Formats: sequence, structure tokens, C-alpha cells
Amino acid sequence: MEESNTNVAEAALTALNDLKNEIEDTALDSTQAADDYRIRFLSRKQGQITALLKRIPDVAPEDRKEFGQQINAAKARVEARLEEAASALSGGAAAGAAPSDLTLPGRTLPQGSLHPITQAQRLITKVFESYGFEVAEGPEIEDDWHNFSALNFPPDHPARDMQDTFFIEEPENSDDGILLRTHTSPVQIRVMENREPPIRVIVPGRVYRNEAISYKSYCLFHQVEGLYVDEGVTMADLKQILHAFARTLFGEDVVMRFRPSFFPFTEPSAEVDIWWQDDDLPGGGRWMEILGCGMVDPNVLEGVGIDSERYTGYAFGMGVERIAMLRYGIDDIRILYENDIRFLEQFS
Ligand code: DAH
Repeated sequence: MEESNTNVAEAALTALNDLKNEIEDTALDSTQAADDYRIRFLSRKQGQITALLKRIPDVAPEDRKEFGQQINAAKARVEARLEEAASALSGGAAAGAAPSDLTLPGRTLPQGSLHPITQAQRLITKVFESYGFEVAEGPEIEDDWHNFSALNFPPDHPARDMQDTFFIEEPENSDDGILLRTHTSPVQIRVMENREPPIRVIVPGRVYRNEAISYKSYCLFHQVEGLYVDEGVTMADLKQILHAFARTLFGEDVVMRFRPSFFPFTEPSAEVDIWWQDDDLPGGGRWMEILGCGMVDPNVLEGVGIDSERYTGYAFGMGVERIAMLRYGIDDIRILYENDIRFLEQFS
């Protein structure tokens, strides 16, 4: 009995060794040979690997683990050889075919492009950089102080209403909430808190508003803010720089107007419209608002410790989507956020 058990175990080990040799020695020089090889070793029903697994009970208990592991290794070898053969055979097929024409032009890979908002934002930023402005940035999660109070918004201003602002921490008193910034103007405060005039910065960034989504408004959008504070800065400087900007973006003969307006942080304040020529419209076109601007309110300067007797400044803020839509003739803001490749491909 002892004797025959040992024999059976030895036979199993021999079978394993034979299997390993066959796995290595079989030539895989055709698809047919590879198919036969796969069936011979890996077939669940009649394959040699399965057959050998069935012999595990023949092996002495202390050797079974090792035996099982070796079968698994053999199986992995079969799979590896099949993979090698598959790639060699497909290369081999090409080698047998007509030689490649090395003078053919290469295949062009699909090329991505910058999103139209990014393009417009970079263009605006670049124009102001060419006027000597430097880029500044600030956080999208902002506190009430920077977003509202320091910008001279009174505590009961309607813009603080939950309708317009996404609060992260709702205010306990009227002005201590944490929120998603509703404009890039708070970066004016952050820059002035940290620097002495002369200050001349341009601030591209993303802003958020809790508004009903429609063709003309979205819950997030982009703005570019500008701020210039120095001795002797006047409204004439503001008008001159915005005029130059509009000519660069919309052409030398752009028609623009300054319309008196109100913002808590500027005095006086204005909005800038450009004339949008469109012969289909009654009157041959219409005025389109592109930005808000004004002279920095002395209260704002004093609030960040800048002497408003000595320094004056101007500021402006514009919507990037608005400008992208005008430049590219887009009539629904939502399409800018859908990531439809057919739309985006037009901007490469
Ligand atoms: N922050 C304003 C808004 O989001 C835009 C604006 C108006 C910015 C006047 C300015 C400014 O810097 O002077 O509607």
C-alpha cells in the first residue's frame, strides 16, 4: 500500500515535469499551431492542466501546495507563450505582405484645443499684460468680508441674499458667512491688503451665482478684474485704457459708450457697452454691455489702509463668457459648459 502510494505520487510529479517540457518545446509557428496548443493545455474539459489538477490528491499531503503552485506557474507559461505567439504572428503576417511605403505621409493624430472660455480669458489677460498689468489671483471660497463688506456693500444689500450667493457657511450675523465668491472684485481687496501702491493688476478667475440657468446665465462663469491704484489716477485713464482694449478685441472702428451706473465699491461708476452691428435687428444692431467699472470708492481704499487723499484708483470687471459669446457668435451660454466635442472642435 505504502509502496503504491509513493509510485502514484511519483507518477504525478513526472507528469508535471513532462508537461513543463512540452509547454516549452512545442513550436508555435502558425495560428493553427497556437490554437491547438491552447486547446491541448488550457481546455477546461480535456486540457492537460485540468488533468494534472485532478491528480493533486495523488501527491503526498505535504507536497500538494507546492505541486498546485507549479501547475499554476505552468498555466501562466502557456498563456505567456500564446501571447508572444499572437504578437509575433500578427507581425509576421505584415512582414509577409507587401513592404510598407516609407515615403507615405504619417498619420495625423487628433489634436485637442483650448476651450473658448480659456482662449478668451487668456486673450483678455494678455492684452492687459501688454499695458503693464500683472496677473493676480485669489481664492474661489471667500469670506463675506472680502466678497462684500470690504467692497462697501452695506449689511442689507440684496446681493447678499441667498438667491444670489452660494453660502458654504451661512452667516450667523449679517456679515460672517463663508461663500463661493460672486465676483472677482474681492481679489482687489486681497491685493491692496498686501501691497503698497502703485498697484496695477489683472485678475482672471471663476465666480459663482445662485441664479436660474438660462441661455444667458449660468451658476458659474468667469470674470477678469482690473485694478490700478496710484497717485493721480483719473477717470480719463480708465476710459483711455478700456477704449484701447475694446479696439484690440473688437477692431479699430469699434463703437463704445460709457453709461452711468452704480456699484458699491466705485464712485463714480459706469458700465461699458459696445455697438453690435446686426442688420437683421431693428435699428441695425444693439448695444451690448461688456463690463462694469469706476473709480475706487475712497471708503474701500481707507478700509485696507490706503490713504485716499494721496491715492486714487480705477477698477473694472468683465464677464469672459459674454466676451467669448460676442467674439465667436455664440447665442447660448449653456453650450460652453456641455463639453460637446462637435462644438469644441470648432475652436482648434
Ligand atoms: N464685480 C462686478 C460684478 O460682478 C463688476 C465690476 C463692476 C467690477 C465695477 C469692478 C468695477 O471692478 O469697478 O458685477
